This record gives sequence, structure tokens and C-alpha cells, in this order.
Amino acid sequence: MSEIESSTPHEIPAQAGTPPTKRDSFTSKLGVIAATLGSAVGLGNIWKFPSMTGTNGGAAFIIIYLICTLLVSVPVMITELMLGRTARANAITTYQRLSPKKSQPWWLIGASGVLAAFLILAFYTEVAGWVFAYVAKAIGGNILSTDPEATSAVFGKLITSPGESLMWQWIVLAWISLIIILGVSKGIERMTKRLMPALFVILVIVCVRSLTLPGAIDGVEFLFKPDFSRITPGVFLAAMGLAFFKLSVGMGTMTTYGSYYGDDQDIPGSALKVMLSDLSVSILAGLAIFPAVFAFGFKPDSGPSLLFITLPAVFASMPFGQFFMILFSILAAIAATGAMLSLMEVPVSYLAERTKLNRTQATILTFVLLAAFGATAALSNSLLADVKIAGKTFFDLYDFISSSLLLPIGGFFLAVFAGWVWGYPKVRDSLSNHGVLKNEKAIKAYYQIVRYVAPVLILLVLLNGLGLIKW
Ligand code: PHE
Repeated sequence: MSEIESSTPHEIPAQAGTPPTKRDSFTSKLGVIAATLGSAVGLGNIWKFPSMTGTNGGAAFIIIYLICTLLVSVPVMITELMLGRTARANAITTYQRLSPKKSQPWWLIGASGVLAAFLILAFYTEVAGWVFAYVAKAIGGNILSTDPEATSAVFGKLITSPGESLMWQWIVLAWISLIIILGVSKGIERMTKRLMPALFVILVIVCVRSLTLPGAIDGVEFLFKPDFSRITPGVFLAAMGLAFFKLSVGMGTMTTYGSYYGDDQDIPGSALKVMLSDLSVSILAGLAIFPAVFAFGFKPDSGPSLLFITLPAVFASMPFGQFFMILFSILAAIAATGAMLSLMEVPVSYLAERTKLNRTQATILTFVLLAAFGATAALSNSLLADVKIAGKTFFDLYDFISSSLLLPIGGFFLAVFAGWVWGYPKVRDSLSNHGVLKNEKAIKAYYQIVRYVAPVLILLVLLNGLGLIKW
């Protein structure tokens, strides 16, 4: 893909009496894709996708996940990018500007997004902290052992030590804050443009290693041979939640990124590219993990501990295992970085645009709030392990409220807004870049899905999640 320079920094529409201000934005089409893909690709691909595929029956789960992705999360992604680009504002202001009547509270979609960003960051920075700790530990000394008891002890020591957990979470937060302070084009875009290709290269290297192990074929079969008897309503729901989380939709991340898109960016095309690349990363992550897991006789369904307990044991069993452990941890750290940048941009852009704080101050305030609030998640395996709300630790609670409630609720209202409130003429105008792109068929398909299919599917998932209906 050639790197075509797109628009100049966008102007915020002038408010009465104030001159328009320049707004930072992505500067090239390639940068737009890198940043958006950077948001989508994350621990979701490396930590959630493989472990959920492993526990829910392999390929059958992937097929259901794909259906949810195409019918729900891609349309919601297109919606968010479109609305963000039209309003050229943070997630809350976007809905205030686009709402047909000022009295209608559509801005609550953005407010719920800011809340979701805080909740997700609280636990996400903790898992990312473990990943960063593993990079340091793998480089500094041998943490590998063929005995899963021993690798389990290493992980257990890390997550139950309050000091170590907090320290790594704050290191991660500081790292993300520094990039955010640099700005949208000089920070986020520049960083993701460098990191994304590195991620693909490392992933392919680890994949080749895993696939050339004797017995690797069992892992490949596990990934690609669907066992439909495993598909239950519960599996469907898990897949839908993952589809939201994976493409970072339903909470204003893509609205905020869309506000930095150039006017000549093809939004439906970009969304499809990002979805396909993100899916490739998930499948490659599966191909890096499962063949090795099978080759060394480990179980594929050990859940989230797959990454931190099973993999070190798998790597210990292969030649140059230490090297591959380092490589894989760096890969996970890169993936987590792009996702966290997009999460943090949601509150930072809001604070910088709507309060007197400048970007640096807004980032520092978000950092401090998150360091304090995130600590409740970081300590939920140690000091706060016994504090449970609705039977869940803070860590699990934040994951549940955000992925299972706020994202689908946000997605539902986004679909309703685009399909029933904003209306077809505006949708067509925006997604065709004012008639420049000849993509009317795609827009029509999108519109039907966003009007009927997506809201109904999301509603079913939500009601089931709340226990109000049973399939
Ligand atoms: N998509 C990211 C991942 O897969 C997580 C994320 C969710 C990022 C929501 C931003 C918003 O890891």
C-alpha cells in the first residue's frame, strides 16, 4: 500500500464567538490503518482469543465469533468511525453535536464509553503489567521449566505480590501516558506504524517454530476442525462479547479515532481491512500456541493461564525456548501497547477538549486516576483477594461490567442511532465521502444490518447476559 498523504489537521467547527482551533489528526492513510489496527490487536488476540477458543471447542467457536464480528462488531465499528469523523470531536461531544434534538441524551453513549475505558484500563494494564514483567524476567533469567507446577509458581508469585503487581501496572501506565502526551500523529500514529509490522514479523517467526514441531498437526486440527456439538447459547454469547472487545467497539474508542480520520479515508474499506488483519493476528496467535501445546502434550483448555503458565512450559520443552519466550512476551507487550493507547485516548481527548486542561495535563490527570483506581484490580489477587462484589473480584467485575454490559449496550444504541435516528441520506453521504467512492451496495448492506440485524442480535445477547431470557 502506498502512503498517500491525506488531509491537513482538521479544524474544530467554530463555536459562537471563538475562533476555530487546529486539531491533531492522523496524517497518512497507512497511519490510520496502523493506529486503528493497533487498537484492535491486543491482549484480546493473544490472551482472550486462544484461551476462549481452547475452552469452547476450537474451530466451532471461531466460526460463531466470525458471524458476530461480521454482523455486529464491523457494522458498529463503521458507525463509530463515521460519527466521529463527522463531528470531529471526542466521544461525548460527538453525540452532542450529532443528536437531532439537543434534549436527547445520546451523549450518554460517549459517557458510558469513558466509564468503560476506565474499567477496561484498570484490569488491562494489570495483565499488560504481567506481560511486561515476563519480558523483563525472560531476559533477566530463566523462568522456563518443563514442569507446569514450577511455571505456575512463577506466575503465582508475581500476581500475589502487591508491590510487584502495582509496580508493573504503573510502569505500563507511565509508558502509555508518555506516548499519549506526544500527541495523535507524533505519538499514537508514529508508534503504531512502527510496532504493527514488528508484531507481524515476530508472530510469523514464533508460528513457524511452533508449526515445525513434531506432532504440531494436532494443534492445527484443533483450530480448524469444527466440532459443532460444542456450540451452545453460552458459547454464542462468549463469542459476541469477544467480538466487541476485539474490535474495540461499543465504547467510543473508534469514535475518537474516527475523529482523527482524513476526509478521503474509505471508512467501510478501512474497517474491513482492520477486521481481516486483526483476525489474521488471532489465527496466527492460535497457530503459534496450539501446535506447540499439543506437540508437548499440554492441555489446550487451561483458560487465561495458558499464556503465563502453559506457554513457558511449552517453550521450555523446545530448543531455543528462552529466546522464543522473550520474543513472544515482546509480541504481547507490543499488542497491548496499541490497544491501551486507544483506550487512554478516550478520556484524554474528552478532558483536553472539554476542560481547561491541555493534553499533557489531561494525560497526567488520567494517569493519576488510573494508578489509583487500577490498583483495586492490581491488588485483587493479593490484598483485595477476599473483597468480592456479586461473587467477583474487582478485576473480574471490571471485565464483566465493561465487556458484557457497557460494550454491548453502547453498541446497541450506536446501531439504533445510525439506523433509525441519523438516517440513510447522511449515512450514504458520509460513507461514500460525499459521493466520491462508488460503494453504494456496501453502504446499503451496512445500513440494513445496522438497522435490523445488529440491534436484535445484541439485544438477545444482553438479555441473556442479564439472565432475563434463556435460550
Ligand atoms: N481490542 C483490544 C484487544 O483485543 C482491547 C480493547 C477493547 C481496546 C476496547 C480498546 C477498546 O485487546
